[in-house]
Amino acid sequence: MRYRDFLRNKLSGIIPRSIVLPSGYHLVGNVALLNLDSSLMKYASFIGEKTLEYDQRILSVATKIGPTKSIKRIPSYELIAGDSNTITTHIEDGIKFRLDPLHITFSGGNRRERMRLSKLVKNEEKIVDMFSCVGQFALHIAKSADVEVIAIEINENAFQFLLENIKLNGLGNRVVAVLGDCRKVHPKGTANRIVMGYLHNTIEYLPFALETLVEDGGFIHMHMSMPESEVKDIMMKIEQMCRIHGYSSSINAHYVKDYSPRIGHYVFDITTSSEA
Ligand SMILES: C[S@@+](CC[C@H](N)C(=O)[O-])C[C@H]1O[C@@H](n2cnc3c(N)ncnc32)[C@H](O)[C@@H]1O
Repeated sequence: MRYRDFLRNKLSGIIPRSIVLPSGYHLVGNVALLNLDSSLMKYASFIGEKTLEYDQRILSVATKIGPTKSIKRIPSYELIAGDSNTITTHIEDGIKFRLDPLHITFSGGNRRERMRLSKLVKNEEKIVDMFSCVGQFALHIAKSADVEVIAIEINENAFQFLLENIKLNGLGNRVVAVLGDCRKVHPKGTANRIVMGYLHNTIEYLPFALETLVEDGGFIHMHMSMPESEVKDIMMKIEQMCRIHGYSSSINAHYVKDYSPRIGHYVFDITTSSEA
């Protein structure tokens, strides 16, 4: 039975039929994340308990209570049912991610992009992941080829899970984690490929990615959220920035997913080569 119908049956007599119930949840490991609107908040614990009954994989249920904050992307969730220990293991295409989804963002919607990128990577590449979080890109890439990955993360909490996940997946020989701001700790002139998995004005970070490339150039995968109407402008800006740093470039934009109404999540594959 569909989740919404299940809730409707189980909560008839408790929640008025006129109130629209949620159609689904985002499952991270054993934690179900809901987005209840204000009319449902007073029924949150009933919905939480029934959600636990609906899916045996779910041990904790939380609902969003505010926006995701700061560049560290700290989400605001409140536990509404189940186990208060919300540290969980999410398994995605064979990679295990330990994390606490109440305090760290993890987007299942980026999975296809993680798979696409790990297929592009070749043995012996030197890769820098500038916004690693718990290793979403770094670990998939390191599993798919014999590469060296430097995984940078600014959020101490995410960084601790990143260290744990490198060990958990046996990838300590391929991934080195660095705690810090990628604008300051990026290893200059070292990488063939750079991953920029961050969505907010990511173009401001592009000069640091260009400094990180080896002199001959390489590949940059720059994610960013924006309306479709701005995609062409951004491509022109990318080209200009590459030129300023001494690289010619060719750029392909891919649509990843909807980010919010009228705003898309795009990734720009930038291939650079030295102009000299
Ligand atoms: C939303 S997560 C994305 C994780 C992953 N790259 C992905 O795309 O699935 C963005 C991460 O970048 C980190 N971050 C933001 N600004 C940063 C900076 N200047 N240097 C290093 N990490 C940063 C945040 O703390 C957060 O963990």
